[in-house]
Amino acid sequence: MIAIKPVTPEFVAEIGNADLSRLTDAVFTEIEAAFSRYAVLVFHHQPINEEQQLVFAKRFGELEVSVQPFVQTPGNKRRVAAGFSDISNLDENGKLLTEKDNRRFINLANQYWHTDSSFKRTPGKMSMLSAQSVVPTGGETEFADMRAAWDALPAERQKQLEGLIAEHDYYRSRLMVGLDPHSISPERRALRPAVPQVLIRTHPASGRKSLYLASHITRIYGMDEAESRRLVDELTEHATQPAFTYQHHWTVGDVVLWDNRCTMHRGRPFDESQPRAMRRATVSDTGPTVPENWHHAA
Ligand code: OGA
Ligand code: MN
Repeated sequence: MIAIKPVTPEFVAEIGNADLSRLTDAVFTEIEAAFSRYAVLVFHHQPINEEQQLVFAKRFGELEVSVQPFVQTPGNKRRVAAGFSDISNLDENGKLLTEKDNRRFINLANQYWHTDSSFKRTPGKMSMLSAQSVVPTGGETEFADMRAAWDALPAERQKQLEGLIAEHDYYRSRLMVGLDPHSISPERRALRPAVPQVLIRTHPASGRKSLYLASHITRIYGMDEAESRRLVDELTEHATQPAFTYQHHWTVGDVVLWDNRCTMHRGRPFDESQPRAMRRATVSDTGPTVPENWHHAA
């Protein structure tokens, strides 16, 4: 039996008595049950290798293999194996990225509240980070409970929000942190078109409703820019109040996984002259949140 130690009553739990390097079906079934109740699971002292992490992640669904618009390096070499996002400030040789490196901006955008891959038609279901190098201060990862945030809204407000659809764009959050707009070539744009996502969704395993927000949102369909921004900022502020958030301070060997369908997360700033290195495996949701044949009027 795994040991489930709730960190908060319904949002974050630490999982003990599980060896992620050789996970059995029985133990995975218990982890999966914990994952439907708690949206963030924390494992300590799990120095798994790339292969072991991929095997674990794939138990949750189909591994997301992203065509990254910006990671091209000489010979297309990467610091981490195919199948991972490189969540680090290091280049393919393990050297600190320079200030102007596009890869730095791509990861800097992670410091805004978001949920992974909501800029894809079929967004992320589960993401899993494992930590190889950590910084002594800063560099925490924070999570926001979007089911609790929904539950706390007045019924009248909830009613106004049902049915709204937001446009998510990969480049919005990247432009906010200083990515050069000229670097978004037509090819890079075509790799990442803006996509629609519902604003309110139901988490299948728990049946609980959840706000679905991210810094990738450019607008709400049917609203003008200012009204969209006001609504999205208001809801983001509401959802990221301390009452709904948890901060994870990293130790080497930590593995943290979260449910992108009902959480947001963000990285906190840190001294970038220090290496911080993690790798992330993400599995896709089972389908789009908005039907493929949906078209907006304006
Ligand atoms: C991510 C992410 C934040 C961090 O890996 O998806 O947003 O703390 N990371 O690095
Ligand atoms: Mn992320």
